[in-house]
Amino acid sequence: MSKLSISNKKIDTILVLDFGSQYTQLIARRIRESHVYSEILPWDIDESKIAELNPKGIILSGGPNSVTETYTPRVPQFVFDIGIPILGICYGMQTLAEQMGGHVISVDQKEFGHSELEVVSESLMFKNLDKKINVWMSHGDQVQDLPDEFNLVASTKTAPIAAMEHKSLPIYAIQFHPEVTHTDNGKKILENFIFNICNASTDWKMDDLISQRIEEIKDQVQDKKVLLGLSGGVDSSVTATLLHKAIGKKLTCVFVDNGLLRKGEADQVMQTFKENMNLNVIKSDSAEIFLRHLKDIDDPEQKRKIIGRTFIDVFDAEAIKLKDINFLAQGTIYPDVIESSGSESKEARVIKSHHNVGGLPEEMKLDLVEPLRDLFKDEVRRMGVELGIPKEMLERHPFPGPGLGVRIIGEITKEKTKVLQEADHIFIQELIKADLYDKVSQAFAVLLPVKSVGVVGDERRYAEVVALRAVETVDFMTARWAHLPYEFLEGVSNRIVNEIEEVSRVVYDISSKPPATIEWE
Ligand code: XMP
Repeated sequence: MSKLSISNKKIDTILVLDFGSQYTQLIARRIRESHVYSEILPWDIDESKIAELNPKGIILSGGPNSVTETYTPRVPQFVFDIGIPILGICYGMQTLAEQMGGHVISVDQKEFGHSELEVVSESLMFKNLDKKINVWMSHGDQVQDLPDEFNLVASTKTAPIAAMEHKSLPIYAIQFHPEVTHTDNGKKILENFIFNICNASTDWKMDDLISQRIEEIKDQVQDKKVLLGLSGGVDSSVTATLLHKAIGKKLTCVFVDNGLLRKGEADQVMQTFKENMNLNVIKSDSAEIFLRHLKDIDDPEQKRKIIGRTFIDVFDAEAIKLKDINFLAQGTIYPDVIESSGSESKEARVIKSHHNVGGLPEEMKLDLVEPLRDLFKDEVRRMGVELGIPKEMLERHPFPGPGLGVRIIGEITKEKTKVLQEADHIFIQELIKADLYDKVSQAFAVLLPVKSVGVVGDERRYAEVVALRAVETVDFMTARWAHLPYEFLEGVSNRIVNEIEEVSRVVYDISSKPPATIEWE
């Protein structure tokens, strides 16, 4: 996976040696945000790999181990011998200190959270920054005695040696995490290292990442064939487009229409990818099979399981029809990797169950292609824009794998699906019209399992109840119900009741998460 040159152009690279911290990817991401290319390699990587990469600087990440124990990771000696700038962060600082003759201890009082850093001597690391900086700490060990050739640069109340630098070599170390947003000016601190110390140039662009990923896919796949489950979501769409650019018709996408998609969604996905972008997409019209398997089922967990299993069956059946497939492509992005395996450093590759393709038959023996594995959602979106994927697809609110199946409370029928699709469509159309769609993080309609009495003209109408849900959230772990204007809600409600005769009443969900979840099931 050499990323030394992109289209024969060498670009300045900052190498991050990974000691297993949950923040390692964030370090690389922050550097890329400053338009410098950054790559992560395991701490025990071969010398030849590093020579090939020829980095401008090396950052040693944090990690869960303790250098006070004997058999924990250490920086390979050749890293010091190359003579390029080094920055140790947290565990990276501790092992660096230990290896250079300092002393690290485990402290009783673990430090986790905000801390005030006081810069006590001039250092390029803190150039143009205040002497007091609010930083984010997360450690149980700390440097007790400076190595001989080092100067103290900064302290906190509990960590007297919170930053240090070598007296003559470009080796720096900090105990806190500049890569997390909780550290004030963290980006500036990292930029001091990459620009003022490593002299890296800002020659990295999204275009480069795209060309690089395309080259890597070509290298990995050669002349073999790849299968991809296309959902129409951001991650699978970007993966499909990248692969298409890399290997053209050797990519086959399978798009499963489970009948539980939003109104017009199946046509939109086919139109975008098959007709406009000329991808090889097979559409599996499977609404009937899903409905059959879901008949008489009203328990949410059972519904989710059935939808997941049916998806796998349908996908497998399509895959088996295709001949000579060697690879399975997945739109796994970095947060999925963290959620499913705990850390990118671990070799184990667990496929998240709602990626829905975990059940391919053993005998297919497919290797994985995951070109977005180290990227964050916003990076994937930016890539999608550069790749020419329509904005409406990239900026769509998230949609759960089980689709409308978890938004029709109780048993799912074809008729109910149609009613919900219409109601949801009206809500979304109105949000877009009122310029509110991008202001909420997710919005949708839910069909409730109760009927209510209404009156239309002189007629009594005993019909369905639709709930509207809109939330604001950053990470979808917690969410606040969106305070949409009353007049807006009134307009949506009127349209739904007037245009859909199966609906007699509309309610607005004012529950936040927690304790409620975003979806109703
Ligand atoms: P909850 O309901 O757990 O949802 O607050 C948080 C976010 O996750 C989405 N969600 C899913 N996404 N497969 C998915 O791909 C699923 O099974 C699933 N369930 C919930 C939900 O839409 C929200 O954005």
